[in-house]
Amino acid sequence: MRVIHTVAALRDALAGATTTALIPTMGNLHAGHIALVEQIRTHGQPLVASIFVNPLQFGAGEDFQRYPRTLAADCERLEAAGCDIVFAPDADEMYPEPQTFQVLPPLADELCGAFRPGHFAGVATVVLKLFNMVRPATAIFGKKDYQQLFVLKGMTRQFNLPIRILEAETTRAADGLALSSRNGYLSAAEREEAPRLYRLLQRAAARIAAGERDFAAIERAAADELGAHGWRLDYFSTRDRRTLLPPAREAGELAILAAAHLGNTRLIDNIEVARG
Ligand code: PAF
Repeated sequence: MRVIHTVAALRDALAGATTTALIPTMGNLHAGHIALVEQIRTHGQPLVASIFVNPLQFGAGEDFQRYPRTLAADCERLEAAGCDIVFAPDADEMYPEPQTFQVLPPLADELCGAFRPGHFAGVATVVLKLFNMVRPATAIFGKKDYQQLFVLKGMTRQFNLPIRILEAETTRAADGLALSSRNGYLSAAEREEAPRLYRLLQRAAARIAAGERDFAAIERAAADELGAHGWRLDYFSTRDRRTLLPPAREAGELAILAAAHLGNTRLIDNIEVARG
């Protein structure tokens, strides 16, 4: 496996490859990332994993400075998982000039976008740049970042990018907590409390699947329980899976998305609702 830090060296390394697969990451890899490597490797294309903590997608006061940088350990895990190239540029290499942001549809200002203004413009900008640098035939993103996946699929379609976007199911700890690089911020007591978010998503999804249609009441019950256990909720919201907009009462393809703070850690999760 090669570790490459510049776009020029990346282009050289990929010069002979007719097809490539890409996993964009911000590093601090966990078993969820390795599951992405395993899924995309079945496509048999030379595999590039990018590691770049993207300043453009962090807002003021967010965790950009403290986001763990663990390049050596990440490279070991990626090599063991069968990755061919790690592309780890620094910020000057990624953004050599003042950056023009990718412009996104209004949906990017909903849900996480409402609480992290400009976040998805930052994500889309860096992913579009990575797509242009690597020119992959296939790229993979996890469903844990449900809105991110939706926004990036939309961008790929809108710009006719010849890239197949694969989706990976969320990898969870045995108690249901979605694996995330940010779980490492949790204290022992918070780590014990954290699976409540997914339990409430499961409970809400079961109520909807059983035919309940008062989404607001279902969301309120979850919000109240989170509040009672010390969480600060950003949103717990039922959405139409096809648009990520609030659903019509009779909509059949639903997902529930949630984001909430536990102490100093912001956790996100989601669940797709089985058809009732
Ligand atoms: O999901 C992430 O880790 C990041 O948002 C991504 C897609 C690598 C862009 O920086």
